[in-house]
Amino acid sequence: MKNLLKKLKFKIQAKLITYKHVEYKRKKFEDRSVLEEIIFPNVLAEFDPQKILDIGREDYQYFYNEFFKGRELWTLDIDPEREEFGSKNHITDNVSNLENHFNKNTFDFILMNGVFGWGLNKKDKVESALEAIYNIMRPEGLFILGWNDVKELTPVPLLDIKALQKFKKYTFKPLKSSDFKCTNGEHTYSFFIKK
Ligand SMILES: C[S@@+](CC[C@H](N)C(=O)[O-])C[C@H]1O[C@@H](n2cnc3c(N)ncnc32)[C@H](O)[C@@H]1O
Repeated sequence: MKNLLKKLKFKIQAKLITYKHVEYKRKKFEDRSVLEEIIFPNVLAEFDPQKILDIGREDYQYFYNEFFKGRELWTLDIDPEREEFGSKNHITDNVSNLENHFNKNTFDFILMNGVFGWGLNKKDKVESALEAIYNIMRPEGLFILGWNDVKELTPVPLLDIKALQKFKKYTFKPLKSSDFKCTNGEHTYSFFIKK
């Protein structure tokens, strides 16, 4: 009962945030609505993450800090012009350098959506980025990788990324999958837990 109420609370919060900021009608399972209206509220209700890192921030995400109000949210992007769309704790750097900024076992929840294949493309950088994500995540923390499952946007097959194999796959119950494919652009959310 308590859990149901929590889910309801975060679902209503997500609805209000998107109602306020999103100007067009989205389809239920397109990548943005999956992220904002299914993933965020359920992660908040089930994991109650206190330290969160969101990697890669675009202008259309200027309102994303609102989802994590009252929590310690960090954002990072390689492009200095993205700083204004980040949280008050924002870092401009390559995701591969994460360990220059954070201690091991720091974050409860890390999201990296649309960065792999969208700038993070070299095999060695992909490997060091995912190794760093693993290291700065606390044990049992949740990592979500958002990526496009098409050849042109998959610089390294996921199964060939050694650092990813350190994680265990996690079935995200609200989407009944550990690799949920959205209805647009083959956009896929893959869910991992740090062992
Ligand atoms: C296509 S946008 C996606 C942003 C966003 N996370 C989303 O959900 O749509 C890609 C973003 O990743 C950033 N980016 C690309 N390569 C990066 C890297 N190696 N390290 C950090 N940020 C990177 C870009 O500057 C850009 O803001």
